[in-house]
Amino acid sequence: MKDLIDNHDVQTQIIDAFNFRHATKVFDPDRKIPNSEFNTILDAARLSPTSFGTEPFQLLIVQSPEKRALFRDFTWGANGASNGTAGQLGTASHYVIVLSHTGATMKAGSEYLAKHNREVKQLPEDVVEMIHGAYSKFQDSDFHLETDAHITQWAARQAYIVLGNMMTAGALMGIDSCPIEGFGLDKTEAVLRTEFGIDTRVYKPAVMVAFGYRADGPMFPKTRREMSDIVTWA
Ligand SMILES: Cc1cc2nc3c(=O)[nH]c(=O)nc-3n(C[C@H](O)[C@H](O)[C@H](O)COP(=O)(O)O)c2cc1C
Repeated sequence: MKDLIDNHDVQTQIIDAFNFRHATKVFDPDRKIPNSEFNTILDAARLSPTSFGTEPFQLLIVQSPEKRALFRDFTWGANGASNGTAGQLGTASHYVIVLSHTGATMKAGSEYLAKHNREVKQLPEDVVEMIHGAYSKFQDSDFHLETDAHITQWAARQAYIVLGNMMTAGALMGIDSCPIEGFGLDKTEAVLRTEFGIDTRVYKPAVMVAFGYRADGPMFPKTRREMSDIVTWA
């Protein structure tokens, strides 16, 4: 009986968190997320599942106002309800750029994959070899990841799992967030190269996400399709 009660509480907390989360346009600039809570969000990212466990993402956390300003002109999706400093870029407690790996690290046979399997997954050499074969088959004939662009998109899909888990972890702690795809890819890559020393042949910006505490209520009520329009049971 106790298990049932606890389980019911957890279900309520989960649904409450999903209802609480909305794409926050403007954060309270005076409220900062405590380190321990932000570290929990980072743990949610680190513990996220990824295809073959390859972890093809990096997190760049941009905190200084000067550095954030470098993105402002072409990151229209983080300029909030108005333009300028009032949007997510200007007001978020924490601003994260989620980078995804490219073919440079994720193509079957890459040095990164072998090192990852040896050092992170601690697999013996024969298993590393075997998995290499599995990657090749998966990339070449199962999922048709034939070009570098396909591989980058595949890695970006893993990065979006990370994005979702970070936002849900935040929502469970009462922390607001906004995912951001509203940015110019070419200009973002140029800033990452010149101002952050990131090799954009190896890492591409997949998505951004701002965290903090809402300044106002949601701009729009939460609307969703009916469950029956989404789910088919077979
Ligand atoms: C991948 C992704 C990219 C998004 N990009 C932006 C963005 O650039 N700026 C923004 O204000 N909202 C952005 N959103 C938020 C969506 O517009 C929002 O999630 C959707 O309208 C549903 O509203 P809700 O999240 O408040 O429930 C993005 C959402 C996702 C998942």
